[in-house]
Amino acid sequence: MSKNVFNFHTHLYTLSNLSNLKKYLHNITSFSPIILLTTLLVTSVLLYSKPVSAGPYLDSAHGNYNPGYGVLRTSLSTPPNDYGRGNCAHCHEKHASIGGSEPTPTGGPSGYELFYSNYVSQTDDFCFECHVDVNSYQSGESLINRSYSYRAGGYTADTLNDIKEAFSFTAPATSHNLGDIRTFINGKWGYTSDSNPCAACHNPHMAKGDPANAGNAAKSSTTRGWPVSLPSQHSKDNNAWGLWGDGAGEKMSDCTANYQAPYRYNSTTTYEPDGSTTTSGSNLTDYATFCTDCHNTTYTTINSTPLVRNLKTINWSTEKHGNGVGNAALALPYTSGPSGPNYVLSCTDCHEPHGSPNSYLTRKEVNNGVVTITGNTMTTKGTEWASLCERCHPRAGLETPHHTAPLSSDYCSTCHPGGSYAPCIVCHYHGSTFTGSGYTNYPIF
Ligand code: HEC
Ligand code: HEC
Ligand code: HEC
Ligand code: HEC
Ligand code: HEC
Ligand code: HEC
Ligand code: HEC
Ligand code: HEC
Repeated sequence: MSKNVFNFHTHLYTLSNLSNLKKYLHNITSFSPIILLTTLLVTSVLLYSKPVSAGPYLDSAHGNYNPGYGVLRTSLSTPPNDYGRGNCAHCHEKHASIGGSEPTPTGGPSGYELFYSNYVSQTDDFCFECHVDVNSYQSGESLINRSYSYRAGGYTADTLNDIKEAFSFTAPATSHNLGDIRTFINGKWGYTSDSNPCAACHNPHMAKGDPANAGNAAKSSTTRGWPVSLPSQHSKDNNAWGLWGDGAGEKMSDCTANYQAPYRYNSTTTYEPDGSTTTSGSNLTDYATFCTDCHNTTYTTINSTPLVRNLKTINWSTEKHGNGVGNAALALPYTSGPSGPNYVLSCTDCHEPHGSPNSYLTRKEVNNGVVTITGNTMTTKGTEWASLCERCHPRAGLETPHHTAPLSSDYCSTCHPGGSYAPCIVCHYHGSTFTGSGYTNYPIF
């Protein structure tokens, strides 16, 4: 069912700044009266309070913030329906109709007057109609988007090249489950059962690329933008629901004085996320705050369809990789032991946000090395998990704490079943503590 979100009549009488709208409409090369009206009216919802040159929507990746970047749907890119790049009509169509017929894709009215269903399944979503490398509705191009390991880690060997692919991984690989995210946000922060799960983390009227479409060599720009918005700030008011990461107080260096950026791939001189020599996180979105908007100790029953259980809760203020104090032996660029700071990591130092060929959204590349984790089978996957831990905890340093008293008194087979390695995460997981062999509720992750 189509929701009449644009409410013609209400907004007809609430337009407060027509000159801005004229400036906005200046970009539109040709239009039918119906769409002009729609555009005019819907534009008023989002844009009337800001000058158009600085308008939040027009400054977004969809609104053409870099010349040649904005939305342009194939069926609305040539006469008689050639709408300017960035026009709202490339995503929204009133009553599934423009000039009396429905531009492709057809299928009748969709929620929020979108040209396609907002969300159908893990591999069928409104955003995938454009953000896909084949048969994209974006005119003239496949929309190439890369993994976080590729962009922040500089791991250009990663072949993943579109968002639909990033959400298509199935066990033992993993994707953030869109249905579960939709269920989780429904009823919170103004989201409903009609909301697009991508809109849990992205404001489609604000999001920018980081850097502007890094995945597309022909178009890549060094200008950085900020892609995400905080779910808990979600609002219909585009000025209230801003980007997260762009402003003061929204960087990893604001979350902690003890962030250490990991190395980029094939480098011991450049650092995530932008390949510069900055290491404090002053150039990184505060993803600890972003991810713990949902993954915290308040939401104790987040169902995971892929894991077939509720998620463990995460208390980043006490975990060792969070604010909890650890004295581990560490690999560069971290400083080992008590002389090092009490490091606080970003969730994205270990995890992809969308999906990964590895289990638990674990990145393919971490701190200058490749990580491969294809599952959690007791006898065979231990060395795979070690390939993650060893990116930051040197192997030589790992044997000592496990092999010295009192742990060495445990049967060797606890950790080396069948002569192999137990997956490290049977003991080391978010919130895990160890009791036994002289330890009582000792946090070990
Ligand atoms: C009509 C096609 C279209 C649809 C539908 C669409 N996008 Fe985009 N998106 C684009 C274009 C075009 C860009 C700019 C990149 C470019 O020009 O190559 C972009 C860029 C982005 C960016 C910034 C990253 C980058 O590559 O610059 C994000 C984030 C984003 N889109 C999220 C979404 C989300 C979330 C949805 C669904 C709610 C969505 N998009 C739906 C066309 C589309
Ligand atoms: C990239 C595609 C895209 C473009 C371009 C776009 N929108 Fe949207 N819009 C969406 C999506 C997706 C939703 C539904 C969000 C959700 O599921 O919560 C939406 C929702 C809305 C809503 C309802 C907000 C709410 O939360 O109830 C309004 C109003 C709106 N859009 C107006 C506009 C206007 C005005 C423009 C142009 C200035 C525009 N949109 C351009 C994708 C787009
Ligand atoms: C759980 C939160 C979350 C969800 C859900 C989510 N994303 Fe993202 N997305 C992110 C994060 C985090 C990034 C990485 C931002 C960065 O690099 O700083 C990102 C990056 C992106 C980018 C690329 C930005 C760039 O610069 O290349 C696009 C495009 C995008 N998301 C689209 C989508 C679409 C489409 C969906 C739904 C199918 C979606 N996202 C769902 C969190 C999310
Ligand atoms: C040092 C690497 C590392 C960092 C940093 C990290 N994680 Fe994890 N994460 C893991 C590993 C390993 C697992 C698999 C073991 C487990 O389930 O806890 C995991 C699993 C998860 C799970 C699934 C939990 C479950 O029920 O099995 C969630 C959710 C998660 N992480 C979220 C986060 C968030 C949010 C942050 C930041 C606040 C974060 N992670 C930071 C390594 C990390
Ligand atoms: C049977 C449970 C168990 C298993 C399995 C296990 N560990 Fe541990 N691990 C522990 C305990 C308990 C400690 C705390 C020992 C200490 O601090 O003296 C520890 C400590 C550590 C530390 C901190 C070292 C330091 O310098 O303080 C790291 C890193 C670590 N383990 C990595 C691993 C890796 C990698 C694997 C898999 C190859 C693994 N562990 C398997 C129980 C386990
Ligand atoms: C809008 C709420 C929300 C935000 C924000 C969010 N998540 Fe999740 N996450 C979920 C839900 C719901 C699930 C359960 C579905 C699933 O397992 O994919 C989940 C599952 C996970 C899992 C387990 C995936 C698996 O199946 O093994 C990991 C790991 C994870 N999230 C990491 C992150 C990281 C890292 C971030 C920040 C970049 C983040 N999440 C941000 C809602 C969220
Ligand atoms: C991206 C780097 C990184 C990765 C990957 C990583 N760790 Fe860590 N880990 C750290 C840092 C940095 C600390 C020190 C935190 C502090 O200073 O408080 C730490 C601390 C710890 C501690 C606390 C030790 C103590 O002194 O009490 C344990 C246990 C641990 N890590 C286990 C693991 C395991 C197991 C894995 C793999 C599943 C892993 N880590 C992966 C960076 C990492
Ligand atoms: C608490 C867990 C734990 C226990 C108990 C344990 N180990 Fe280990 N062992 C480890 C970890 C962790 C490593 C280093 C893993 C890595 O990073 O590759 C290791 C490494 C080794 C290695 C080096 C293997 C190689 O490929 O280089 C040998 C040999 C070994 N252990 C033998 C033993 C024996 C014999 C016992 C019993 C006396 C024992 N371990 C008990 C956790 C344990």
